[in-house]
Amino acid sequence: MENVICEVIKNENLNKDHLLLEFENNFKEDFYPGNFVHIKIEKCFLRRPFSVARFNKKSIQIIYKVVGKGTEILSQKTKGESIDIIGPLGNSFPIYKNKKICIIGGGTGIAPLIFLSEELKKFNKEIFFFYGSRNRNSIFFSVLPDGIDYIFSTDDGSFGTKGNIFDIFKKFNGFEVIYGSGPEELLKKISKFSKKVPVYLSLENYMACGMGLCYGCVVKIREKDNWEYKRVCKDGPVFRADKIIWR
Ligand SMILES: Cc1cc2nc3c(=O)[nH]c(=O)nc-3n(C[C@H](O)[C@H](O)[C@H](O)COP(=O)(O)OP(=O)(O)OC[C@H]3O[C@@H](n4cnc5c(N)ncnc54)[C@H](O)[C@@H]3O)c2cc1C
Ligand code: FES
Repeated sequence: MENVICEVIKNENLNKDHLLLEFENNFKEDFYPGNFVHIKIEKCFLRRPFSVARFNKKSIQIIYKVVGKGTEILSQKTKGESIDIIGPLGNSFPIYKNKKICIIGGGTGIAPLIFLSEELKKFNKEIFFFYGSRNRNSIFFSVLPDGIDYIFSTDDGSFGTKGNIFDIFKKFNGFEVIYGSGPEELLKKISKFSKKVPVYLSLENYMACGMGLCYGCVVKIREKDNWEYKRVCKDGPVFRADKIIWR
């Protein structure tokens, strides 16, 4: 984990609600799918966490939605401005090889799955990416890796099948590993499949320190015959679904 200053390369709208921020990679350490960065934003007391959507030696990308004060200020950053970033934070998705893979997510939860699918592509031929969205305009078409089978659903039917992505996913079978990220209701449903195959989910929670010190981000995780509080920022954000005790 390092604290570095990075210059903005671009910060542009992907669609009406979401932006893609690319900044130079001044980190010595590598990032892995599931890792996140903690960004210092002026006028905000706490840093804001964002999953890494793309990583290479030169630059890092995040995809974010403007939901409040911090993301509003972030959305006004322009090329050449400096940002103070801590990373890599959190654990990462385990990378399985030679399996029939399912990736499923929705909304901004897609961000870490983009990085994940790039990595999985190196070791797997059969990757099915179930992508749920509100409408056609909310889908991040321009940043989706090629060489993957996408199955889309939208709430209004403007692209892919109309309806919830989970209902479409249920009609498929034979997956050997499932990875998910997105709204909690979706993740809860996906976690039921963990009785049959390994399921890994990336969780979000409100964060303060982002590095394991304050215990402000805990979730209940099964441990043998008992349970323990685990920190989403340090022990996660990726957890095995069969271990999660949902609220
Ligand atoms: C590990 C992790 C990875 C994340 N990755 C992404 C990402 O890739 N893209 C993205 O757009 N967002 C991501 N988020 C959520 C992002 O951090 C928040 O949207 C952001 O901090 C909001 O800051 P704000 O100042 O704009 O909003 P605030 O003014 O702080 O809040 C605005 C609204 O958003 C809600 N909110 C804020 N933070 C969270 C949170 N952590 N969980 C649920 N609701 C929240 C608040 O309740 C409020 O309704 C991630 C969060 C975590 C914990
Ligand atoms: S945010 Fe402080 S321990 Fe996770």
